[in-house]
Amino acid sequence: MTGAAEPLVAGTPLLVVENLVAGYEPGVPIVRGASISVGRGEIVVVLGPNGAGKSSFIKAIAGLVPVSAGTVRLDGDDITNVPAHRLVRRGLAFVPQTENIFPLMSIEDNLKVAGGVLPKALIAPRIAAMYALFPDLVERRRTAAGNLSGGQRQMLAVARALMVDPKLLVLDEPSAGLSPKFVSTVFEMLSAVRRTGVTILLVEQNAKAALAIGDRAYVLVEGRDAHEGAAADLWNDPAVAELYLGQRHARPAEGGER
Ligand SMILES: Nc1ncnc2c1ncn2[C@@H]1O[C@H](COP(=O)(O)OP(=O)(O)O)[C@@H](O)[C@H]1O
Ligand SMILES: [Mg+2]
Repeated sequence: MTGAAEPLVAGTPLLVVENLVAGYEPGVPIVRGASISVGRGEIVVVLGPNGAGKSSFIKAIAGLVPVSAGTVRLDGDDITNVPAHRLVRRGLAFVPQTENIFPLMSIEDNLKVAGGVLPKALIAPRIAAMYALFPDLVERRRTAAGNLSGGQRQMLAVARALMVDPKLLVLDEPSAGLSPKFVSTVFEMLSAVRRTGVTILLVEQNAKAALAIGDRAYVLVEGRDAHEGAAADLWNDPAVAELYLGQRHARPAEGGER
């Protein structure tokens, strides 16, 4: 899809990215004109082959890769090229694929540090809110984060991002490197986070699991958004599934799976 991203949901989208061009070196664009929109309360998934530029794309949205053309608007504000540390206050929290927790610190200290930008009086109540949302973390609050299971680590990484009560949570491959059991834990957790009113944009390799919790998805190919649609429709589109999702699709008639 080219041109302005058209929201499929009612109201103004929370995030509107138009014709984004971004890369690591001048004159070498990795993201080459990508447009997406994310409606309030949606889970939107960005899929695509390895090296398509998915990480670069969301890092550019999150202020971590320089944008040379196009715009990123969050809740109507132009946040193009606003650095990541400033975006936290504007309501965008980014969870990187790796190194998203401090392994030697306790779970509680990880949350405290993540809440460092909050007024002091808000930190403890916010940690309590995270423990209510992620009960697994309470029991292990004094444990070094490096001792957590893969799934619990991702839970902590998400809890850290949620400390500042963002409008938009952006995640780079939250299920990467996890065993199948933890993959479902992570996606169930993201569904629970969405139910608290947080809008979610995520990049995933695990197309099936991501489309199962997502509302809409985009397929990024060579730095451009090549397909867009309802999550279920994309999964059931044979051309998209076989070309870009790297997995054979399951037809609804053959067990209702998507
Ligand atoms: N830090 C970097 N510096 C230079 N090039 C990079 C960097 N990170 C990624 N790239 C390049 O950007 C392209 C897209 O990578 P990436 O955004 O990681 O894709 P994906 O997440 O879809 O696998 C690749 O060709 C990769 O080599
Ligand atoms: Mg990537």
